[in-house]
Amino acid sequence: MDDPDKSLEDIVDLLRQEIEATELNSEEEAEAFRIRFLGQRNGRITQLFKRIPTLPKGKRREAGLLLNRLRAQANAHLEAARNSVTSTAPSACTLDLTLPGRRSQWVGSRHPITQALAGITDIFQRMGFTIAEGPEIEDDWHNFTALNFPPEHPARDMQDTLFVQASNQGEDGVMLRTHTSPVQIRAMLASSPPFRLIAPGRVYRNEAITFKSYCLFHQVEGLVVDEGITMADLKHALFSFAYAFFGNDVRLRFRPSFFPFTEPSAELDVWWELPDDPDGGRWMEVLGSGMVHPNVLKAVGIDSERYTGYAFGLGVERPAMLRYGIDDIRIFYENDIRFLAQF
Ligand code: DAH
Repeated sequence: MDDPDKSLEDIVDLLRQEIEATELNSEEEAEAFRIRFLGQRNGRITQLFKRIPTLPKGKRREAGLLLNRLRAQANAHLEAARNSVTSTAPSACTLDLTLPGRRSQWVGSRHPITQALAGITDIFQRMGFTIAEGPEIEDDWHNFTALNFPPEHPARDMQDTLFVQASNQGEDGVMLRTHTSPVQIRAMLASSPPFRLIAPGRVYRNEAITFKSYCLFHQVEGLVVDEGITMADLKHALFSFAYAFFGNDVRLRFRPSFFPFTEPSAELDVWWELPDDPDGGRWMEVLGSGMVHPNVLKAVGIDSERYTGYAFGLGVERPAMLRYGIDDIRIFYENDIRFLAQF
């Protein structure tokens, strides 16, 4: 409490000096200052305001102005201290301008198999092929019978095919398609020649899982049916594709093979350069192909005297492994972000 005998002017003068001289270096000091001078109940300036009604009427206005100024000075002193306390201390410890920026969004990339598929379909689309699709769950007739598989063919066995519904007599089974060739049958039944199409998709096999085989993989089926189609057309299409996909310096080998649904049949191998291999590399089979068997055309009601055609079935995983230098097929299906983020 200030001396009641002192004049208000003198007390205010003293308080001014005291306020100026009080150093406020922390939030606690600032709060103690506020309570001491401006506190609602016992603040020294607040107490002085309470004296105003006791003053002679003519002096009250002047006293009010004087005290208002004093209060403003105390507030300004407090404010200045608080600003410097908050602007220096926390910023020095929480803001490190040398930290790398925060990545607010992850941009995904397309799976390498999707990219390889897109590359393959793009090449065939430029050669005038359209795209056809079929179901991944197939029946025996589309997957085998219409494609001229004999009833005793090993692919019809539980060992090789993943059945959804087992067959009794061998022709009523339902399975995950073992190849994209049944799309040939569906496309030919749905329309009439000429055909020039590809059918990309997933296929499934009951295989032992190793670095080079997996229970599911991708194929791109091809089918061309028209009048006067020959094996030269097939070879031209396949070689054009291979040069476009693997590059003009790729080494290719076209060799005879066998498939029930083509006659004659051939496979296309690509030379896989391996510096550590004693032979410098090895041949890798990338597709099966051939001239559409007359029995297949008959199964879908196409006149095999008038029309001929070629077909091919291209694996996607192996060319993708070659292209990206991947030595284990299983890594495509592990969904490991450290692998996928590289593409
Ligand atoms: N479907 C065969 C397989 O999965 C690949 C194939 C070979 C497709 C020859 C064809 C073809 O269209 O003509 O092994």
